[in-house]
Amino acid sequence: MKFLSGKITLIASGLVLLISCNNMQHISKASSEKGLKDYYKDYFPIGVAVNIHNIAGKQGALILKEFNSVTPENDMKMGLIHPRQDFYNWRNADSIVDFAVRHHIKIRGHNLCWHQQTPYWLFKDKEGKTVSKDTLLQRLKSHIFTVVNRYKHAVYAWDVVNEAISDDSTQFLRNSKWYQICGEDFIDSAFCYAHEADPKAQLFYNDYKLIHPQKRRKVYQLLKTLLAKGIPVTGIGIQGHWSIYDLKQEDLESTIKLFASLGLKIQFTEVDISIFPKGRKRANKMLEDSIYTNAMEVKQDSAYKMVFSVFRKYKKYINGVTFWNLYDGDSWLNNYPIKGRKDYPLLFDNALQRKPAYWGVVKF
Ligand code: GLA
Repeated sequence: MKFLSGKITLIASGLVLLISCNNMQHISKASSEKGLKDYYKDYFPIGVAVNIHNIAGKQGALILKEFNSVTPENDMKMGLIHPRQDFYNWRNADSIVDFAVRHHIKIRGHNLCWHQQTPYWLFKDKEGKTVSKDTLLQRLKSHIFTVVNRYKHAVYAWDVVNEAISDDSTQFLRNSKWYQICGEDFIDSAFCYAHEADPKAQLFYNDYKLIHPQKRRKVYQLLKTLLAKGIPVTGIGIQGHWSIYDLKQEDLESTIKLFASLGLKIQFTEVDISIFPKGRKRANKMLEDSIYTNAMEVKQDSAYKMVFSVFRKYKKYINGVTFWNLYDGDSWLNNYPIKGRKDYPLLFDNALQRKPAYWGVVKF
């Protein structure tokens, strides 16, 4: 009996060994499988915008497998990292930077100067009156020096100024508080401060809707002027945030060629392709809720395939491509422009699995 039970134990442990060996093979096969970054190793880094929930567990593993660059989605924005004049909240940004450094992943810093997500104190003095231009530029300088210095060892590129150009055809610069108080000087100053703080960092002007001729002409004009003045701009961040309905190859190519003609580096900084048309804020969200039809998926597959074939074609100008969020379940578009309207704009589905569009991006 004892002998028999010994034999059973032996067989059982053999089985366990066999099963775990098979599992190991499975795991090592899975981890040796290529990720986006590997397919694109001869092209450009492939990045993803992340929050602190993304950098652990299965999502963290997915980031490490597929990407070799990260951008903190919100945690370096002024309102979050510098909520009070005398207090910086480094916690989340530090965690993301530590994660990336530990795993030898590049980091894009986002962003140093923007009209949104600003802290309440920024534009006001103690009496609640709007601050002077000098005071605001001083505050901007101190903010940029502090943040850039802290992450100098890790962040190789910054979105220095975000979205300063107006969408309104009658206006050049956006009528933001920055503009109202400083005129256009806040843009020059932000780049100069960032360059002074870290002369090695690549410095980007980042904006959206750049495949639209009217907006990109204005951004081109702005960058041309900055370069003529000797302002240290390294490149243009073309955000992305496209829709399956409005993305044309010729628009994308003209955009790349235009900015490349200025001798600037180009990064696609916030790529996602929504299944909804842009700019249509429907009152009745139920009409469009959560229907990801086969036809939409097919359209999205070919949009992604086209976009990446263009990126590869112009690889000599492009030194980074970043997706805005990791997977469909965590896209900002699930709450914008309509709160709670489910979108499916990325290459990984709600369960973190590769979507068919993934294969169109990596098979070339
Ligand atoms: C803009 C900003 C990003 C982010 C997105 C939405 O594109 O540059 O920081 O806020 O909007 O997530």
